[in-house]
Amino acid sequence: MKKIKLFDPVFDQDEIKAVIKTLKSGFWASGSGSGNVLKFENKFKKYTQSKACVAVNSGTAALNLALSLFDVKNKEVILPSLSFVSTAHCIVENGGIPIFVDVEPNTLCIDPKKIKQAVSKKTIAVIPVHFGGMSCNQDEIHKIARSFNLEIIEDAAHAVGTTWKNYRKIGAHSSAVCFSFHPVKNLAMPTGGLISLNHKNHKKFKKILDSRRWCGITDRKDTDYDVREIGWNYYMNEFSAVIGLQQLKKLDKLNKKRRKIAERYYNEISLESKMPFDQNCSYHLYWILVKNRQKVRKELAQNGIETGTHYKPIHSMKMYKKSNSLPITERVGKQIVTIPIHPNLKNSEIEKIINTVNKFA
Ligand SMILES: Cc1ncc(COP(=O)(O)O)c(C=O)c1O
Repeated sequence: MKKIKLFDPVFDQDEIKAVIKTLKSGFWASGSGSGNVLKFENKFKKYTQSKACVAVNSGTAALNLALSLFDVKNKEVILPSLSFVSTAHCIVENGGIPIFVDVEPNTLCIDPKKIKQAVSKKTIAVIPVHFGGMSCNQDEIHKIARSFNLEIIEDAAHAVGTTWKNYRKIGAHSSAVCFSFHPVKNLAMPTGGLISLNHKNHKKFKKILDSRRWCGITDRKDTDYDVREIGWNYYMNEFSAVIGLQQLKKLDKLNKKRRKIAERYYNEISLESKMPFDQNCSYHLYWILVKNRQKVRKELAQNGIETGTHYKPIHSMKMYKKSNSLPITERVGKQIVTIPIHPNLKNSEIEKIINTVNKFA
């Protein structure tokens, strides 16, 4: 029985040729953000209609650097607990205090009402996560951010190709939007990430981040350079960039395929709790909620269908002690099952997934 993988990067001869060309060129990486890294940043900037882009080597690096732009030391940053742990680590890494709030039951995105309740004198920012590629309630979040003077740093790791449509609709871009191009993501690289900047100080921020992503190196002239502050080895390599350039060309087409699968899941899966259908969503994940998770996953596995449990809530990890109760997040953490939705799925595989899940309806 052929296994149906939960995630599966989509690529063809375009990516293969690009990698071989890069290999043969001998130019594999540079911290200066030149070559194909620069090309990728420019194309992505155009795609997202943002003011500046900084390519890095992971979504985690993007979040760490984006937070470093704001003075979060000893201040509070509001985030959902239902996310990958990097969403919280970036706050701690920058000396801030993570304040976890609950999610909306329908979208599993951060609940704006809960953000409002959690704001204190120490709050400086909020990190919404577009869960599975579903846009958070941007209108409400921007309204709250304006009234309390908060920065919005988006974790758009799942949302490449999604949220921008919504942004255009409401005419609001957040200060910094962080993407991941991990191989399982909709735009896949061996490893990669990017910060897209929309802040009024985007030019200054771009300069700062260009330096911080390469060990703090600045003022380069020929072989000479200076260092004014600490930085990291966070820059994107050329192989990731050339793969990214090819993936970006295919992104809308591949996301359309994901949406088609999501539409089928939404209409044909007979469970009550499942991810809604939304034309703007990139559908990085498709989730269902089930009471008997172990049994459901076992049945799917016996039929060769790989599943995931995104995510174990961050506030349940030892490092992040539970500060308050998050009933929806805690329930979802026990019931969520993510099922394959990548564009490599065949019709027969989609049908098999639907039929197997429906045994539990
Ligand atoms: C919601 C979320 N945030 C951040 C990240 C971190 O991205 P990366 O794995 O590229 O460091 C991920 C990746 O899995 C993620 O899913």
